[in-house]
Amino acid sequence: MFMAMTAFAPRLIAWQAAHGRHGLPWQASRDPYRIWLSEVMLQQTQVATVTPYYIRFLARFPDVAALAAAPLEDVMALWSGLGYYARARNLHRAARQVMEKHGGRFPAARAELAELPGIGRSTAAAIAAFANQERAAILDGNVKRVLCRVFGIEGPPGEKATETRLWALAESLLPDDGKDIGAYIQAQMDLGATLCTRGHPQCAACPLADECVARREGRVAELPTPRPRKILPRRRQRFAVLMLDDKVLLERRPPVGLWGGLLGLLEIPPDVGIARWAERFGLDCGQPELLPALTHTFTHFILELESWRIPLRAFPRMLAEPTHEWLALDRIESAALPTAVRKILTALAGTVMQKV
Ligand code: ADE
Repeated sequence: MFMAMTAFAPRLIAWQAAHGRHGLPWQASRDPYRIWLSEVMLQQTQVATVTPYYIRFLARFPDVAALAAAPLEDVMALWSGLGYYARARNLHRAARQVMEKHGGRFPAARAELAELPGIGRSTAAAIAAFANQERAAILDGNVKRVLCRVFGIEGPPGEKATETRLWALAESLLPDDGKDIGAYIQAQMDLGATLCTRGHPQCAACPLADECVARREGRVAELPTPRPRKILPRRRQRFAVLMLDDKVLLERRPPVGLWGGLLGLLEIPPDVGIARWAERFGLDCGQPELLPALTHTFTHFILELESWRIPLRAFPRMLAEPTHEWLALDRIESAALPTAVRKILTALAGTVMQKV
């Protein structure tokens, strides 16, 4: 089916020992709870971004019982800014499931892990390999890229037919000895993240270069085959940046839907004028000012952010609810906010600073 590669796994394992990433915070433990948390955070997110979140999260929720006992809001707050918030909701559900079905002992076996919300085939295999030395293949985006290049596999990796081939290949390449599995899985992740990157692959340093089909055929830039471009639909939402002195009013969003459970800006419905909306809340305010337009891209759509700065002259009594919070503009960086909201407020803080 594919050109056989000599000693694929041993080469990777040897390369990882010398050149891979060591000393990452989750590598210090074989506790499946800690490994699970890191693998979920690292889905679609880079190590440098994840690391501070991981440390804060573990300090607050050192074990699965602590996570399961926490209100979802607290979990969402610690996740704010990491994106893909379904991960955090699934994390919380999974923790509660572990308390109920496993008596609070976090499973380390792949079959049990795969039953938990938010854990797909590849993540289950990675956790079981690191925590339990289970000999199982992973296939995340990085590994797909490496395999497509090294073995010259055509077709977008997201398509069913290509994915089936890639899984079969990944299974066939596993090291013989289960004791090597953790190093092998880490090696695959490290190679994809540090050498065999999408934009700037460093083939000269790659332990697989001499047998890499894409390199031999000059097709490194063409593989993996890009997925057909889909034009993302655009949505538009209007937000109120209600300002009292240097503070902005935020509200906790409903648990389901966009940014569910997170703090965000107040939303102005599309069919109502800004002044009318302010009147509805009995706000004593100055002239609303339209802020520069921004966009934020999600997986399935692009959000056009229309935001209005509304200076308040007095404390808005109608908005003095527990679901509302005031945030000082100089605390934007450290606050737990969705990235799009942070974008709006950072742009605003920039213009406020310039005016001073
Ligand atoms: N990406 C996914 N899992 C990872 C891990 N354990 N270490 C580094 N990067 C990763």
